[in-house]
Amino acid sequence: MKWFFSQTILFLMSSCSPLTADRQANITSMLEQQADRVMALGEWEERWQQNKIGFHQPEVHKMLKKNIDKVLNGRTGVRFFFPLCGKAVDMKWLADMGHAVVGVEISEKAIRQFFEENNMTYSEEPVPAIPGAKVYKNSEKNISLYQCNLYNFSNSIEGQFGAIWDRASLVAVNPGDREKYAALIISLMANDCRYLLDTLLYNHDLYQGHGRIWTEEQLVNYIQS
Ligand SMILES: C[S@@+](CC[C@H](N)C(=O)[O-])C[C@H]1O[C@@H](n2cnc3c(N)ncnc32)[C@H](O)[C@@H]1O
Repeated sequence: MKWFFSQTILFLMSSCSPLTADRQANITSMLEQQADRVMALGEWEERWQQNKIGFHQPEVHKMLKKNIDKVLNGRTGVRFFFPLCGKAVDMKWLADMGHAVVGVEISEKAIRQFFEENNMTYSEEPVPAIPGAKVYKNSEKNISLYQCNLYNFSNSIEGQFGAIWDRASLVAVNPGDREKYAALIISLMANDCRYLLDTLLYNHDLYQGHGRIWTEEQLVNYIQS
């Protein structure tokens, strides 16, 4: 495992320890999503409708648990941003600890499932600043999930954040959107923001044939941008 520190960015790359069958299936599913093609928003929705969501983990992510103290850095009541949030259970875990969570996800089904599977009530309302978007909220736990294209979201909607947990998001971004993604993420970071990124190191000799992988060098450039 390697750590890169760049100002407020905590960069975590995992070269995985022995793989369990489940973890192998998750990794294979994530890598398959990185085929050398653009993934349209409609295709993501289709995946959700067909329940082809191998990326979803039913348990809180081990790396988030392991690194939470470094992310919090002694702070309480931190505002977390989850880009491309899916229905990550990590959001509830953080909210249960008293942090606020804002996520962005294109699939309404994913957002509804998040609240329903976690036995949380929610309200839903339009977002005037983003035509066609809706925000789903559980006020008791301070979770707001925006159903919209990530690139229509901005710091004028929810301000900046004290932490960002990027799990399976950077790698899901279409190659042509990488600069836009980086600019958006940076614009959402408050001065004291800590950005935790989970990504994979793997053996190119054993897995080939996709063009969406970020090399270590590209990742470092991304952090430094
Ligand atoms: C690989 S999944 C990761 C989900 C989540 N981070 C997790 O760890 O389970 C990527 C998610 O981003 C959503 N998505 C993809 N492109 C999007 C976009 N441009 N705007 C909003 N959501 C998007 C997909 O519907 C999908 O749920």
